Amino acid sequence: MPLEGWDHLELWVGNAKQAAYFYEQAFGFRRAAYAGPETGVRDRASYVLEQGEIRLVVTSGLRRDSPICEFACLHGDGVKDISLRVPDATNAYREAVQRGARGTAEPHWLEDEFGKVELASIATYGDVVHTFVNRAGYEGAYLPGYVAHESTNGSDPGVGLLHVDHVVGNVELGRMEHWVEFYERVFGMTEMIHFSDEDISTEYSALMSKVLTDGEGKIKFPINEPAEGKRKSQIEEYLEFNHGPGSQHVAMASSNIVDTVDALKARGVLFLATPDAYYEDVGDRVGEIDESWDDLRRLRILADRDDDGYLLQIFTKTAQDRPTLFFEVIERHGARGFGDGNFKALFEAIEREQALRGNL
Ligand code: FE2
Repeated sequence: MPLEGWDHLELWVGNAKQAAYFYEQAFGFRRAAYAGPETGVRDRASYVLEQGEIRLVVTSGLRRDSPICEFACLHGDGVKDISLRVPDATNAYREAVQRGARGTAEPHWLEDEFGKVELASIATYGDVVHTFVNRAGYEGAYLPGYVAHESTNGSDPGVGLLHVDHVVGNVELGRMEHWVEFYERVFGMTEMIHFSDEDISTEYSALMSKVLTDGEGKIKFPINEPAEGKRKSQIEEYLEFNHGPGSQHVAMASSNIVDTVDALKARGVLFLATPDAYYEDVGDRVGEIDESWDDLRRLRILADRDDDGYLLQIFTKTAQDRPTLFFEVIERHGARGFGDGNFKALFEAIEREQALRGNL
């Protein structure tokens, strides 16, 4: 199935007005469009936020019978839609449904004075959907029904987040293979073989993970399931508080992670702490890098190397009260992996957070 790239990520949240402010002020997104009661939409309010090629939409429901309110009540704030750009949404939908996907919105066109957009949606794990978007014939701010919005943070240059790198799903124990097979069958994706010492990563991360990717490697979907580890699995904690499967984290790429993380920290974004001990041997493990180890240590950025190069990454604390969705900033220098070598360090950091919440 031809996928042109990520279109947008839509989060269904309890209070989109405040969530939008958070992603603007803390993460440096700019407000691009809005739909809500003021624009004739009666049951919801949606804020479209952009940075680089990343488009984030936060939506909340306005009435108690709203499926958006129900979602936010059940799962907390989280990813509802991992939307993909396609050349033909009707074809993508038909192919997907023929291959066993469950349709959630039949192909349809939306139209306004800026052109028309073709949309269709299918279900994936949990209550998450993939909406196929064909916006080749559209020049408006986002979708018909949305009005372009003056950014509330005016000339804010953002923090240098460029594009979505990968979106991770957490699924129940024993269900990872099912979803691997789903993405292979429905999307024609392939499992990405990346270096990982499975025993070590399972012991420390208490998760099993496989990664699906489209032909060009633009779209990457790691799928996690819980595994027996040293302590209670972080995936189990997620599944408990999310009441089922869902998106665990969204990784966004930067070409200068040091400047990006400096800016995010100045804006108040909280990151997982990495122990000092991590920096004692990371240089030996990863080898030569372009960045200064002092900067990485100061900002608590993690590093890992695989056969193709190295990567730098850091994980935020969860973005809402429930220990569910969080974000990653990643800078790749050739490496195609996901920082498996950091599982141990990451696990130790997450474990401390879990202990503070009394869930360990
Ligand atoms: Fe990641």
